[in-house]
Amino acid sequence: MSSENKIIDESKQGEALMIEKNTSGAKKMFLESYGCQMNFSDSEIVASILMDKGFITTQNFEEADIIFVNTCAIRENAESKVRNRLNDFKRVKQKNPKALVGVLGCMAERLKVQILEEEKLVDIVVGPDSYRDLPNLIEEAEDGRKAINVILSKEETYADINPVRLGSNGVNAFISITRGCDNMCSFCVVPFTRGRERSRDPESILKEAREAFAAGYREVTLLGQNVDSYIWSGGGLKKEILSDEQKQNSVNFAQLLEKVALVHPDLRVRFSTSHPKDMTDEVIYVMAKHENICKYIHLPVQSGNSRILEMMNRGYTREWYLDRIAKIRSIIPDCGISTDTISGFCSETEQEHQDTLSLMKEVEYDFAYMFMYSERPKTLAERKYKDDVEEEVKKRRLNEIVAIQRESSTNRIKTGVGKVHKVLIEGFSKKSNDMLMGRNTQNNVVVFPKGNLQKGQYVNVLVTQSTSSTLIGEVVE
Ligand code: SAH
Ligand code: SF4
Ligand code: F3S
Repeated sequence: MSSENKIIDESKQGEALMIEKNTSGAKKMFLESYGCQMNFSDSEIVASILMDKGFITTQNFEEADIIFVNTCAIRENAESKVRNRLNDFKRVKQKNPKALVGVLGCMAERLKVQILEEEKLVDIVVGPDSYRDLPNLIEEAEDGRKAINVILSKEETYADINPVRLGSNGVNAFISITRGCDNMCSFCVVPFTRGRERSRDPESILKEAREAFAAGYREVTLLGQNVDSYIWSGGGLKKEILSDEQKQNSVNFAQLLEKVALVHPDLRVRFSTSHPKDMTDEVIYVMAKHENICKYIHLPVQSGNSRILEMMNRGYTREWYLDRIAKIRSIIPDCGISTDTISGFCSETEQEHQDTLSLMKEVEYDFAYMFMYSERPKTLAERKYKDDVEEEVKKRRLNEIVAIQRESSTNRIKTGVGKVHKVLIEGFSKKSNDMLMGRNTQNNVVVFPKGNLQKGQYVNVLVTQSTSSTLIGEVVE
């Protein structure tokens, strides 16, 4: 996280890929992912399903027999990026007419058959709940038919599939604990692209965490669109429809978090994303109780104004949100806190925008992902409200938010100077191979001289200086 406060786009691109076995005759796949961590985690499921069928991976799309793009639909520009990228893949088809191109993930789910009509080079379209069907779909496409499966499921969690850790540093592993989202925030496309919320069997989560630890990983991040609504009751049912007996035997997020923390004291646990309306005190107490649960919460606020929050259907007010922050700070005073904001949502006035600025000053976030509102087809906001804030105004408001966040980040990171931080080493620093980088519990990047140390080890670092986004120091005993 070197470029803090930069406006980070969820449609960032991650080149998956590694292992290139020299298995002659095996089909080569190239798999590229966009979007949130959950999408990257899904690509690890896709790779697992296809490698089981004998596919091998390549980092060079020009030599691939099959190209997959796992896509994001969260904002318009996330989709434009994918369309541009599809253009690059035309080259491959010109050279090798048999090569196949598949669109996976949220954009596939949103556009369905429309993608096949708009992007002629696409052969396969697969939504996030249909990856088990990929081998069949590939066969269909090889027979010259366009193949599509965008059926959403109420049960699929891929619980039994062992993800192939793509592009991993061998230290941090990501584990999906829920899929889908039932919240229907009015601006958001995710409920339409990922379907109903469902929780994954805790035993399969614990098994994955244990296996990750045994394989040398030292940090797991539990993923869900709203981790706080995790609930397991034998069948992934929602809280509201459980009998009292089922409730007693169910596992909620705080309980799951504790179970994962108990896997091993040297396995750090992180999670994302927390929802202000659902984050319980129980979660905060469990965090405080276990040293290996990292003291960092990503708690997206979206707006600091209660009328806008209501229109966004977020389920909380400014006051409720600030109360959650106060609770976190009272139980875990040194907790790192980050957020997401949206500027220029439908009908947002100047005063309402000022409320977001004042909230951000009050909270002093360590970090923020800041966006301009982008209207998405079929969402509640698209159907009910007018996207009436001028682009220029959205941009200016965003810049004002970014300016405040820059100041907060600088102030917050400075508080780490002069202190000793326990750091999990993740690898070399970006700037020099003589330096290593890792993170402290608050998720700040810490850089220090290499010595004889290696990634995956914990070290204590006395921090002597900071830049706007990094702590720099020396290892101490
Ligand atoms: N489940 C998470 C967020 C997932 S999307 C949560 O509820 O917090 C990540 C972020 O993208 C959101 O927090 C929001 O800030 C932003 N976002 C989502 N839809 C958007 C839209 N239509 N326009 C602009 N930003 C959006
Ligand atoms: Fe989208 Fe809201 Fe669900 Fe987050 S909680 S994924 S913003 S609908
Ligand atoms: Fe994008 Fe889908 Fe994630 S829309 S942010 S990839 S859930």
